[in-house]
Amino acid sequence: MTLQIDTLPELRQLLAEQRHRRRTIGLVPTMGNLHAGHASLVSAAKSQCDYVVTSIFVNPLQFGPNEDFARYPRTLAADKAALAQAGCDAVFTPAVSALYPTGLEQQTRISVPYLSSLYCGKTRPGHFDGVCTIVCKLFNMSQPDVAYFGLKDFQQFFLISRMVADLQLPLRLAGLPTVREASGLALSSRNGYLNAEQRAQAAAIYATLQQVAQRIQVGERDFLQLERLALARLEAAGLRPDYFQVVDRHSLLPAQAHSHQLVLLAAAYAGTTRLIDNVTVETPLAG
Ligand code: PAF
Repeated sequence: MTLQIDTLPELRQLLAEQRHRRRTIGLVPTMGNLHAGHASLVSAAKSQCDYVVTSIFVNPLQFGPNEDFARYPRTLAADKAALAQAGCDAVFTPAVSALYPTGLEQQTRISVPYLSSLYCGKTRPGHFDGVCTIVCKLFNMSQPDVAYFGLKDFQQFFLISRMVADLQLPLRLAGLPTVREASGLALSSRNGYLNAEQRAQAAAIYATLQQVAQRIQVGERDFLQLERLALARLEAAGLRPDYFQVVDRHSLLPAQAHSHQLVLLAAAYAGTTRLIDNVTVETPLAG
């Protein structure tokens, strides 16, 4: 059984009790509509912490005015069953009015400058301010020892790591590998928007990432050319690419000649659904 808590005072009391008993707390922040990727986060939390809380909160602050906040899938009954199955101890399901009592307009925001305006942030202005703000609030509310995120949202994880370092927050972050369908398509709550044809097209995102990764691994270094090829390949598969970028894993900036640990970031639309994915590449060190 997973205990459901809706209010902040209840959450604080529950977790204060756990801390009093010297139990470590793992937090898994989610927006619900849970899939096997989320279950892997809960399982990891369960294996490393004494008490695991998953938050389910569709955060209006991270959605743009023309995005899918209203129709984002809300599947609480199924989510609770999945959490019980994964061994989650408590699920925190606050109302929007509980987390933003004075509304969104004048809400204090956390912003990681510059890096949050790149890649996904370029297409979704303000998105990462919304993410960092809610994640910081969830950290303050639950004071976890460890917080778990999927690495499918690589830029998100990078920015949250920077926020935790900059604000000197006393917790550890764990980033877990992306869980994929057999086709390679990264699991995402937004996959539910895809029809059969779009789902088949979407598999080209991971295939393209892998193809570029292999070319870099065998020594290709013309990243601009590789990015162009990748965009063409996504388009040929019937997708509308948003961006394909080779970045330095340590700075999140576009890869330079000296960059060796890289991440390939991609975003593309299948129909109107925007999907993201990435792969990490270790390049051979120059002699
Ligand atoms: O990755 C997500 O599901 C969300 O961006 C997060 C981290 C739960 C914040 O709302």
